[in-house]
Amino acid sequence: MQTVNIGIIGGGTVGGGVVRALRRNGALMASRLDVRLRVARIAVRSRRKKRAVKLPADLLTTDWREIVEDPKIDLVVELMGGTTTAKEVVLAALRAGKPVVTANKALLAFHGEKLFAASEKSGANLYYEASVAGGIPIIKLLREGLIGNHVTELYGILNGTCNFILTQMQENGMGFDEAVAEAQAQGFAEADPSMDVDGHDAAHKVGILASLAHGFWVKPKRVFTEGIRHVTPQDLEFADQLGYRIKLLGTVKAAKDAPVQVTMYPALVPKSHVLASVGGVYNAIYLKGDVLGDTLYYGQGAGQDATASAVLGDIADAALDLKHDSPERVRAFTPHEANGEIGAIDDVVNSYYLRLNVLDRPGVLNQVASTLAKARISIASVLQPEGQEGKNVLLALMLHAAPEASMAKALKAIGKLAAVKKPTMIRVENF
Ligand SMILES: NC(=O)c1ccc[n+]([C@@H]2O[C@H](COP(=O)([O-])OP(=O)(O)OC[C@H]3O[C@@H](n4cnc5c(N)ncnc54)[C@H](OP(=O)(O)O)[C@@H]3O)[C@@H](O)[C@H]2O)c1
Repeated sequence: MQTVNIGIIGGGTVGGGVVRALRRNGALMASRLDVRLRVARIAVRSRRKKRAVKLPADLLTTDWREIVEDPKIDLVVELMGGTTTAKEVVLAALRAGKPVVTANKALLAFHGEKLFAASEKSGANLYYEASVAGGIPIIKLLREGLIGNHVTELYGILNGTCNFILTQMQENGMGFDEAVAEAQAQGFAEADPSMDVDGHDAAHKVGILASLAHGFWVKPKRVFTEGIRHVTPQDLEFADQLGYRIKLLGTVKAAKDAPVQVTMYPALVPKSHVLASVGGVYNAIYLKGDVLGDTLYYGQGAGQDATASAVLGDIADAALDLKHDSPERVRAFTPHEANGEIGAIDDVVNSYYLRLNVLDRPGVLNQVASTLAKARISIASVLQPEGQEGKNVLLALMLHAAPEASMAKALKAIGKLAAVKKPTMIRVENF
């Protein structure tokens, strides 16, 4: 039986998970692949660190070059994170002709094109299933299972941390800060949660999915991104009364002869839609293919084991490609849309939910309505809990569809009304 020698760079959450999963299922994989998978070396920052998953001391190195430059290593698995050294590692491995498996979405989002070019040049493939939606094999699906479809619409709940926070706020009435603290206490959020709660992590992922679906690489700055910091328990309560849940939702929409729309923002999702019931740290992707119709993928989007499972899938693909000398079988990324373009957010047409803190006195609602009318936006419904005249009261408006540019203008004008404080807009996705 052929042996594939694996060098893993990073022995933290995911690296430890991969080592443990290979211990558990390496023999099963070998019998399925007819290839033996052997962890030959592991690079970490500190040899002395206490680890939840014990790593064999004789395999450890603190110098990643010892792995990348070792002729006995057949396959490099990059699980260190970051975009600086990790880029150097992946480029060096590819240039040395070694296939690379990575879980690093930020690295791909920012440097994907450069890495794919290096992979093309050297003929060593790059595998990145674990970079999006953890245990859901969505990259394989887009590249292989759904290859015969135009993906016309894709919606994704792609950040388990945000979904956990919003679920806590919804179900337990927590405020944003309390829900973040709970996510940190349960190990779902970093000490600095900004990559998650400001939407960047999920934006990287939706950009990768959009790139695969539409055949041109989508740079992170082209993905309109908004996080969940402005969502309050009152919004979740109003949304509930109106028949919605609030989710941090990635969207990729492609109408014929129009630029592709790629966005990441919180959105009201009708309770009747299957994505509304995706709670806690789970991820889900709902997409429409022109041949297939609607389809849904659901599962754990992150965490040690779900991510390790995706890495194992890539290791298996790489091992088979090494065995059959077929690195071109499924290329890392095949650009197939030379004129691909991302549309500007201003041109996107959405429906909106608007929360206003207004002074409860006659004429205020009229002022708001006429400001909206000036921007050609009409009100679909109003939710106003009983207030006390002369006091401030919260008001929720559902607005009919309008271009983002008009909504932005209206929001600015409403913000200037003396009787209105803190107008907050959340988009509504009616699928
Ligand atoms: N955690 C998840 O649930 C998850 C899910 C999907 C994707 N990912 C991605 O997977 C990657 C790894 O994430 P993680 O959560 O496993 O991170 P982590 O727990 O912080 O582990 C990083 C590992 O890399 C090692 N390392 C860092 N810099 C190094 C260097 N210069 N040389 C050698 N080793 C170095 C660290 O060594 P020490 O242990 O000695 O510090 C550590 O073992 C990231 O790209 C992340 O975005 C993570």
